[in-house]
Amino acid sequence: MKILFLDQSGKSGGAELCLLDIAKAYQKQCVVGLFEDGSFRSLLEEHQIPVQVLSRKPIQVRKDSSWRTGLSSLGQIIPLIARVIEISRHYDLIYANTPKALVVGALASLVSRRPLVYHLHDILSTEHFSPANLRLAVTLANRSALVIANSQASRSAFVAAGGRPEITEVVYNGFQPDHYRIENHSIRTELGLENRFIVGHFSRLSPWKGQHILLEALTHCPDVTAVFVGDALFGEQVYVEQLHRQVEELELGDRVRFLGFQSDVVPLMQACDLIAHTSTAAEPFGRVIVEAMLCGKPTIAAKAGGALELVNHAMNEWLVPAGDATQLAKMIHQIRQDWQGAIAIAHQAQTQASDRFHISQINQQIHQLLTQVMQDRCPLKQVV
Ligand code: UDP
Ligand code: GLC
Repeated sequence: MKILFLDQSGKSGGAELCLLDIAKAYQKQCVVGLFEDGSFRSLLEEHQIPVQVLSRKPIQVRKDSSWRTGLSSLGQIIPLIARVIEISRHYDLIYANTPKALVVGALASLVSRRPLVYHLHDILSTEHFSPANLRLAVTLANRSALVIANSQASRSAFVAAGGRPEITEVVYNGFQPDHYRIENHSIRTELGLENRFIVGHFSRLSPWKGQHILLEALTHCPDVTAVFVGDALFGEQVYVEQLHRQVEELELGDRVRFLGFQSDVVPLMQACDLIAHTSTAAEPFGRVIVEAMLCGKPTIAAKAGGALELVNHAMNEWLVPAGDATQLAKMIHQIRQDWQGAIAIAHQAQTQASDRFHISQINQQIHQLLTQVMQDRCPLKQVV
């Protein structure tokens, strides 16, 4: 089966890291078409995955843009669709990994008559999308042969917005558990943070990822240090400045480190005592939550969206209401009070997550679904 993957981003966000792991399984039979150049292209190349940058500049439409902005970008989208039509004739299936890839992929698939699969990494609701973009995404997704939702939460939001339940399957992100066990014991010393209790936050800097909630929680936890790993990937500079101002105003300078984007988060995650996920809006999936569990760390997550599906029963009580800094502080304190108990729960979660989110079984699920799409399309042909 030859697959044309499409993704709008040049940067390595969660949806792109998920795509990387899926594309690895089709290395010799796929190409990834990007609508923007950037570090994600280099990452794909490092893994010997064929990649083509299909557009010279990023499409300006955002999730919350109006239909007018959408129309004004047609001049850029039409040549892109033409290119995708051309390329897709050499592939069996178009796999759109982001909303703009869905728009381009859906229109191209109409002409090239290749089946379309949409990997839904978003909670399609008006919290993130303008009504016009939401309607467009649902209408086009409904034309695909298969929608792969990254969680039940994403699937439910899609169906509530008018998505067809019968074409929608939930497949979680997959991970290589061994990778998350690698430790680097000198990191704390390098950071000058020996003997501190470190809460790690691993996410791009963006208002809805809620780094400001952890900063606020620190004011109630005087002996806790926070380490923030991640950068503003999509132009959230105003938020970055706001975070630095907040650190100054709350006089947290000695207890906060911003470490920027790291290509491998594992050694830093391993160096933390506890990991906090603080998204203020429902997280569609939340890779960092699974990664923290795979590192064997006590993990506090915001109680909304995909997070509720990821944690095991014992970790449920560590979920805190989204956007609630006081509860977050209380939970950090509570976990520290019974540290041995917390470590036991975290180790149990590590074992369970290693099974549940193992990349080999996730990739197998995806392969079966794609094979089914091809078989439904050409019942007499054997799909390999
Ligand atoms: N990440 C990374 N480097 C960083 C910060 C984050 O590689 O400096 C990774 C993180 O480990 C996770 C992904 O980026 O795999 C973010 O995915 P998630 O689903 O948590 O959130 P998204 O940003 O996709 O909404
Ligand atoms: C998106 C979502 C995130 C999810 C990732 C991978 O970036 O925001 O919650 O974990 O895709 O599916």
